[in-house]
Amino acid sequence: MPRSLQQEPAQSALNIRRYGPALGAEVFGVDLARGLDLPTYEQVRRALLEHQVLFFKNQTEIPPQTQIEIGRMFGELHMHPAAPQMAGYPEIFEIYVARDSKIANGEFWHSDVSCDEVPPLGTILQLHILPAVGGDTLFANMYATYQALSEPMKRMLAGLTALHESEHVYRERYSDRGVDDTGRQYPSATHPVVRTHPETGRKALYVNRTFTTRINELEAAESEALLGFLFDHCEGIDFQIRYRWERNDVAFWDNRCAMHRAIWDYWPERRKGRRVTIKGDRPA
Ligand code: SIN
Repeated sequence: MPRSLQQEPAQSALNIRRYGPALGAEVFGVDLARGLDLPTYEQVRRALLEHQVLFFKNQTEIPPQTQIEIGRMFGELHMHPAAPQMAGYPEIFEIYVARDSKIANGEFWHSDVSCDEVPPLGTILQLHILPAVGGDTLFANMYATYQALSEPMKRMLAGLTALHESEHVYRERYSDRGVDDTGRQYPSATHPVVRTHPETGRKALYVNRTFTTRINELEAAESEALLGFLFDHCEGIDFQIRYRWERNDVAFWDNRCAMHRAIWDYWPERRKGRRVTIKGDRPA
């Protein structure tokens, strides 16, 4: 049972406005820096299932412990296998890109840490420092990418599983931020190519260009061709929105039915924020 952080009376009903035809909604009327009461939590949970990604507007900086407590209302928190943790708050992954960064987090299409056996349900990210322009995030609706396939293709994918790996993604990735990963093992996992969302019961494609490396049941050349087709298909603009951040906006996305890509087009400017990630279910 999720617990209420905020002992005050319920915040008023949320004002939720669709962001784009493909997915997403903007949320007005809640100040997350004060935590979430149970009625508001229920509204947020329902809205997340309906819209797949929510953008909370008119926010102030959320204290780290409050962000952790909000995340815990949705489930146990996930610990990132590679990223540096915030000092004193190991559940928080600090997003930080600056002039000397080697990489920007999430630059290629992915569902967060899909290489884990039990990958995340969702991610709550607040950005505190933004470039003057740029640094948008793309999100794609993976129910819609599945629905758009032909029936014969759906039937073929129904029996297939894919390998999701992370060694090629994470090895030395955060060395410029002081992470020495010598001797560390990075996760890999097999998941169905089509997963059924545990709460909505809807089917979604579950492959992405960052982590998915192989369709297990096919020959190597067949796997390469099919994955190439699926990646291109899922990255089609009809399935997407492009979110332009304002300072202190909070995005909450459902990794089980949406993937995303953070665009690094603002070098040498900085972009900074904090993220908590919620554990999910084993994809089925
Ligand atoms: C991520 O967590 O994948 C990055 C998203 C972003 O920075 O917009």
